[in-house]
Amino acid sequence: MTLLSIKELSKTFRTPSGPVHAVREVSFAVNQGECLAIVGESGSGKTTLAHMILGVLARTSGELSFDEQPLPDKRTMANRQSIQLVQQNPLSSLNPKRTIGASVRLGLDTYQIGDKSARWKTVGAALDAVGLEPSLGKRVPATLSGGQRQRVGIARALACNPRLLVLDEPTSALDVLVQARILQLLNTLRRERGLTYIFITHDLAVVRNVADRVAVFQSGQLVELNSTDAIFTDPQSTYTRQLIGAVPVVDDTELALRNKLVGNQ
Ligand SMILES: Nc1ncnc2c1ncn2[C@@H]1O[C@H](COP(=O)(O)OP(=O)(O)O)[C@@H](O)[C@H]1O
Ligand SMILES: [Mg+2]
Repeated sequence: MTLLSIKELSKTFRTPSGPVHAVREVSFAVNQGECLAIVGESGSGKTTLAHMILGVLARTSGELSFDEQPLPDKRTMANRQSIQLVQQNPLSSLNPKRTIGASVRLGLDTYQIGDKSARWKTVGAALDAVGLEPSLGKRVPATLSGGQRQRVGIARALACNPRLLVLDEPTSALDVLVQARILQLLNTLRRERGLTYIFITHDLAVVRNVADRVAVFQSGQLVELNSTDAIFTDPQSTYTRQLIGAVPVVDDTELALRNKLVGNQ
């Protein structure tokens, strides 16, 4: 079943030096329960696309629909609750003075999820779901490690009970072992909760561990979309072949460890 459908979506930024065609007539669909990776070099339009899906950036043209309903540029509360973002650097989006618990609770207050007395319980459950001690909710972001902060970013999104998570480079700022644990957590959460992911990354090693399908972007255009296996074993476009060729060679021990941690033997 299709959860999100995108048709001929475009975004052009008007700049003093002329128009920038950041996303050009992109069409694809995301199935309920799948993890679709979006890959492409820096500047290929990945974040712009994510922002249009989230409704934080208005499209120039094209159509978006979610659960067979058109998604307007001005989103309803229900639209916003259903599609949540997990960012690369959660510290920049967490108020340094606010406790972790209060930050996770914000979405619940915004979308009026549950009655007020139940919200702290939901916050505790969300922290627990991402492997954080509930007592950590009383601390401020600066006292957390990078991995813990990324877990908070995921907890914040989860607390809103979304159906689609847009993850924009969620592990790019983390070292390889912490990254592997976060990927493992994301895989588990998707399976247990039937979530759907759009996973944006420039790291093809990550893609192999999380994605069912891969969409390859170049200069704002979708150049290839296929199963993860096919992208790696039978890439159709020259650009995809180049991207795969550019994957850094990790040594066998590191690769085995990473695969073991994310549950892929
Ligand atoms: N607000 C903006 N104003 C003007 N140009 C922008 C803006 N946001 C992004 N761009 C341009 O759009 C293109 C795509 O950017 P982006 O979506 O951030 O790519 P990616 O996330 O793949 O690195 C780039 O050329 C970028 O410079
Ligand atoms: Mg980006």
